[in-house]
Amino acid sequence: MATMTSSRRLPNTAGIGLRLAHLAEMVAIPPPVAWLEIHPENFLANPHARELLSELAVHLPISLHTVGISIGSAGGINRSHLKRIRSLADTIDPIFVSGHLAWSTYGKEYLNDLLPLPYNEDTLRLVATHVNEVQDGLGRAYLIENPASYVGFCSSTIEETEFLSEIVQRTGCQLLCDVSNVVVSAHNMGYNAHEYIDDFPAGAIAEIHLGGFTPEEDPATPVAELWIDTHAAAIAKESWDLYAYAIRRFGAKPTLIEWDNDIPALTTLLNEAAYADEIAQKERRA
Ligand SMILES: [Fe+2]
Repeated sequence: MATMTSSRRLPNTAGIGLRLAHLAEMVAIPPPVAWLEIHPENFLANPHARELLSELAVHLPISLHTVGISIGSAGGINRSHLKRIRSLADTIDPIFVSGHLAWSTYGKEYLNDLLPLPYNEDTLRLVATHVNEVQDGLGRAYLIENPASYVGFCSSTIEETEFLSEIVQRTGCQLLCDVSNVVVSAHNMGYNAHEYIDDFPAGAIAEIHLGGFTPEEDPATPVAELWIDTHAAAIAKESWDLYAYAIRRFGAKPTLIEWDNDIPALTTLLNEAAYADEIAQKERRA
């Protein structure tokens, strides 16, 4: 079990996702924000971007949010990809390295999506084995993020929050609570978002995510309109409200504003981060 963590401590304030569109601007003038999160996959095959990232990492703490490790794949994790992530982590000393409770590879195919898992004893064993492999490969703790859900499985026998809790017990990993994913999943799957937050293993949370979603008409589903976790819009009121509730329950945590598509001006992201800080301060005072 890996226990190594970054030598740097992250404040319980908001950060923003660093996307390539803003990289040069941020290197020229480091933004007034507490920390940044990147998708390492955007930098691994781009030596120039990697160089600029190393410059930025001198000024700001950075976390790595992986999208290609695929801890839920029955065929095993991608070890060569894991090695590449390790080499980047060794260069920039990230505050966190995280990934999703999902799968995205089949054989040698990368499916460019975060696909859902049934939650039962078999998948629990599989995911725990892979999380241990990831932590050993990275030489540091890994954070697992709750997914945005659109379908469930008849073969699921364990609640998602209990599944995450068991993974923490078996691997010593930490958790990333994506509050907007809870809003999206609760709407799509018909459960109570507040009860989900109540049941979430609070002691293991190292980071929170907030991102925008997009409603999409879908007459085939019982809810008629699916909410899709697009990260292509401002954070919705439902997510801000649940964030305030989550902070009351979990305490303030490093919170990341995720905006990956239809990327707005940097100031829009900074304003969203400032609003997250405002909510956290208000809840702390209350
Ligand atoms: Fe997220």
